[in-house]
Amino acid sequence: MIIQELELIDYRNYSHAHTELDSSLNIIVGGNAVGKTNLLESVRILSLGSSYRASSDREVIRWGCDQAIIHCRIVRRGKSYQMDFQIHRNGQKRIRVNQVERQGHGEPEGLVVAVLFSPDDLKIVKEGPEYRRDYIDQVLIQISSKYAYFRKRYLRTLTQRNSLLKSLMGERKNLDTLEAWDQYLAEAASHIYRMRRAGIEKIQKLANRRMREISPQENLQISYTPNFELDLSEDGKQVCQAFLQQLKQEREEDIARGITSFGPHRDELVLTVSDIDLRTYGSQGQQRTAALALRMAEIDFLREELEVTPILLLDDVMSELDKERRESLMRLLRDDMQCLLTTTNISYFDPQILTSQTVLEIKNGTIRRGGL
Ligand SMILES: Nc1ncnc2c1ncn2[C@@H]1O[C@H](COP(=O)(O)OP(=O)(O)O)[C@@H](O)[C@H]1O
Ligand SMILES: [Mg+2]
Repeated sequence: MIIQELELIDYRNYSHAHTELDSSLNIIVGGNAVGKTNLLESVRILSLGSSYRASSDREVIRWGCDQAIIHCRIVRRGKSYQMDFQIHRNGQKRIRVNQVERQGHGEPEGLVVAVLFSPDDLKIVKEGPEYRRDYIDQVLIQISSKYAYFRKRYLRTLTQRNSLLKSLMGERKNLDTLEAWDQYLAEAASHIYRMRRAGIEKIQKLANRRMREISPQENLQISYTPNFELDLSEDGKQVCQAFLQQLKQEREEDIARGITSFGPHRDELVLTVSDIDLRTYGSQGQQRTAALALRMAEIDFLREELEVTPILLLDDVMSELDKERRESLMRLLRDDMQCLLTTTNISYFDPQILTSQTVLEIKNGTIRRGGL
């Protein structure tokens, strides 16, 4: 799929910017803090329904403005669409496709499919489990609006349950409400668990294949287990019942601590390379290759599941990678993918590929095509 045209209104540092995009490589060039990452983030918002780098969606609204609008014209499997994504200061999000408002709660339409590579990807491998949960969530949200819905419902219910738990520390009241939250939480949890399990099983194979392309000796494994005894091969109802049972069992403990101590929000994905725990013992090189392999596997997985080729967003990755990994990334570009790549330094590129179509220069909140 490709984005032919992108327009940003009161979004981040852009008051009004508009550009057409090339169907293959687009090199976005500009100094520091001019809005290169912001531009890629806007495409990622269209694909995920929210920002991966903002704690609240409202953060992307240009300071002092009421709402941000991201508008695009896309072609997907031979059909054209117009998509509008609107984020209001009051937190409300609206998605319109071909002028028709989409029902729902800001879950992505699934029309724009994109994969982002950034220097932060190393965190998936090196840092805490929340980065690995974000990774798997970003992948699954794009293939299933049901997953997006249950994840949002789970997190919202969790916040409500936790504040209720805190209020129960002193005096026992509203136990009925707790029962209701538990039921609601368990239903969402069982969907998340089962979808994560099925997704990881497939991604693991694809990631290992990508790992071995770059580094033939290595074997990348991803293992996923909930943080309590739970058989995920059972059906949804049974997983839900088992989760409810555990909530009951841990209730006193949870009240004493004022938090829900287990569940998908505590999931860990353990990455190993040739049976070595990558996070603790992996070499810098193994960690970098694995992070790259995971993102490449995301492309493969989305392609398989959705039968569309995602847009490749490469945020400032050229300077981070060595020649070998850079080449393996650039090989992807031959696969007929649209790519938006940001850089402060154009000299990484062969002058032959730099045409007036491919370079977008960003300056003072404007995007100028052919800016060389
Ligand atoms: N909501 C916002 N409103 C206005 N400006 C913003 C907003 N959020 C971020 N910015 C500005 O965007 C700039 C950073 O843009 P970014 O895309 O990260 O830069 P880079 O080109 O280095 O990737 C900063 O100067 C920041 O002040
Ligand atoms: Mg940046």
